[in-house]
Amino acid sequence: MEHRNSFLLSFLLLLLPLLLNSASAQLKQNFYQNICPNVENYVRSAVEKKFNETFVTAPGTLRLFFHDCFVRGCDASVLLASSGNNAEKDSPLDQSLAGDGFDTVIKAKAAVDNDSKCKNKVSCADILALAARDVIVLTGGPSYTVELGRLDGRVSTNTSVHSNIPLPTFNLDKLISMFTAHGLSQTDLVALSGAHTIGSAHCARFAKRINGFSRTSSVDPTLNSTYAQQLQQECPKNVDPRVAINMDPNTPRIFDNTYYKNLQQGMGLFTSDQVLFTDSRTTKLVNLFASNVTAFQQAFITAITNLGRVGVKTGSQGEIRRDCSAVN
Ligand code: HEM
Ligand SMILES: *[C@@H]1O[C@H](CO)[C@@H](O)[C@H](O)[C@H]1NC(C)=O
Ligand SMILES: *[C@@H]1O[C@H](CO)[C@@H](O)[C@H](O)[C@H]1NC(C)=O
Ligand SMILES: *[C@@H]1O[C@H](CO)[C@@H](O)[C@H](O)[C@H]1NC(C)=O
Ligand SMILES: *[C@@H]1O[C@H](CO)[C@@H](O)[C@H](O)[C@H]1NC(C)=O
Ligand SMILES: *[C@@H]1O[C@H](CO)[C@@H](O)[C@H](O)[C@H]1NC(C)=O
Repeated sequence: MEHRNSFLLSFLLLLLPLLLNSASAQLKQNFYQNICPNVENYVRSAVEKKFNETFVTAPGTLRLFFHDCFVRGCDASVLLASSGNNAEKDSPLDQSLAGDGFDTVIKAKAAVDNDSKCKNKVSCADILALAARDVIVLTGGPSYTVELGRLDGRVSTNTSVHSNIPLPTFNLDKLISMFTAHGLSQTDLVALSGAHTIGSAHCARFAKRINGFSRTSSVDPTLNSTYAQQLQQECPKNVDPRVAINMDPNTPRIFDNTYYKNLQQGMGLFTSDQVLFTDSRTTKLVNLFASNVTAFQQAFITAITNLGRVGVKTGSQGEIRRDCSAVN
């Protein structure tokens, strides 16, 4: 009886990591070394080719990785299509994900699968993680080694997006609680927000800050007034909803630390950007990243590595998809 109990106990102890969902411990930098040794080259070439065709490849792929990891973990669930239009990508928050981000993963997957040794051996989730690193490098950001070994999920529902993706109107408390819920720190939050140094946003996402902000002020008082005027010109009241503007007005195509310098000048586009500077809890970090690009890059690498570990699936929790937009 005692023997049976200790057997049961060790069995439960073995299960513990699974129960705690710490499957990320199984990610490895050289996961595909013997399975598909050239995977990184295949992905890099495909991403570079696509990037040469259109710049949106970079911001589109990076944001796609973030939205994938925050909803059901980094499992490529964001790539799944559904006939009923009720997958993650159909949710209002994900409809603005750039099609070029999806296309980047499809092209990289085709390049990987073109090698018979690799065909259907590399997960879509890992291809997305590699592609995200590659677009950061292509836009002048830091390079880093990507941990690999994620499996692709089998579930994607529009209803799980809203409670997991932060809104541009969030204050620091809400941002911190959503990042904490995904195992990320305040430093990770500030560093990852630096991704807004590339790419663009639609006027509707910040319209309230430049028109009819409050009863006493039509413009958000934390906005630089020169910048606010510029935004009002680019995004007039009845602007075409398709119009999008650069989030970093100074160097919109370079992955640098200008984002933080902008915040110091009241030039954060969203409330969720500007609050990182105006809330005293994170002001020092913004100042550090603005003044020391190396400190920013180091923190960003730590943060995106942590992001890549969120809710990773292993074993029977997932599969290696043959087609990134459909379960096998
Ligand atoms: C901290 C909370 C965050 C909020 C509230 C937020 C919100 C947004 C919003 C509203 C847009 C504009 C979408 C549009 O109008 O088309 C956007 C764009 C973008 N976000 Fe974030 N985001 C956050 C964090 C992140 C993180 C962690 C990353 C990546 C590491 C990221 C990467 C991007 C990129 C690259 C774009 C530009 C997309 C493009 O040009 O197609 N964001 N974000
Ligand atoms: C992309 O463009 C660069 C610069 O023009 C060029 O050196 C590189 O070979 C191109 N890469 C691909 C994969 O087409
Ligand atoms: C999800 O999709 C279903 C079916 O298309 C729809 O009825 C529902 O409103 C959607 N929910 C959200 C949050 O988008
Ligand atoms: C597939 O591989 C062959 C050689 O192995 C190469 O010539 C061809 O360009 C590759 N096609 C794609 C789409 O990568
Ligand atoms: C507003 O932005 C301009 C640059 O566009 C800068 O010179 C000025 O110092 C900023 N104002 C404040 C209050 O930060
Ligand atoms: C910038 O940050 C790096 C990394 O944290 C640090 O080693 C370096 O001393 C800092 N540079 C300055 C000038 O403070």
